[in-house]
Amino acid sequence: MSGPPPRPNGSYWRLRPRAPQPGTLLGALDEIPDPGAKEYVFGKGKSAFSMFVVRRGDSVYGYLNICPHYSSPLNARAEMFLNEAGTRIRCTMHFAEFRIEDGYGMAGAAENCWLEPIGLSIGDGLIHIAAAEGPVPRSAL
Ligand code: FES
Repeated sequence: MSGPPPRPNGSYWRLRPRAPQPGTLLGALDEIPDPGAKEYVFGKGKSAFSMFVVRRGDSVYGYLNICPHYSSPLNARAEMFLNEAGTRIRCTMHFAEFRIEDGYGMAGAAENCWLEPIGLSIGDGLIHIAAAEGPVPRSAL
């Protein structure tokens, strides 16, 4: 019996073109609606690196902005990442839905797939990409 693919280890995003450095400042927590989400883009053009952060109260969850089923961005606009109720991450084009807390695909074309997580840290009301815990492990390659 085959189950869902293993949960990503959170390192793959560091191998993407234009990936920001671990520790990079993203912005203030208050810039994100609660509940809501915000896109952060590094670089320009087709090789730009896009990620997003979902906020729920004082908690934040970061993901690479690439759908695991089609490798395209999830959003049509900079802050359009959630369903109407603000309870799940949703692809604007195909309506696949993911759990906010861990990026697991709950419904639609990306069911049983995982969004690629990007670790975050919050301090003094500012969101940073989490500091690296070492080189990218071989399991991410
Ligand atoms: S691109 Fe995968 S659900 Fe839309």
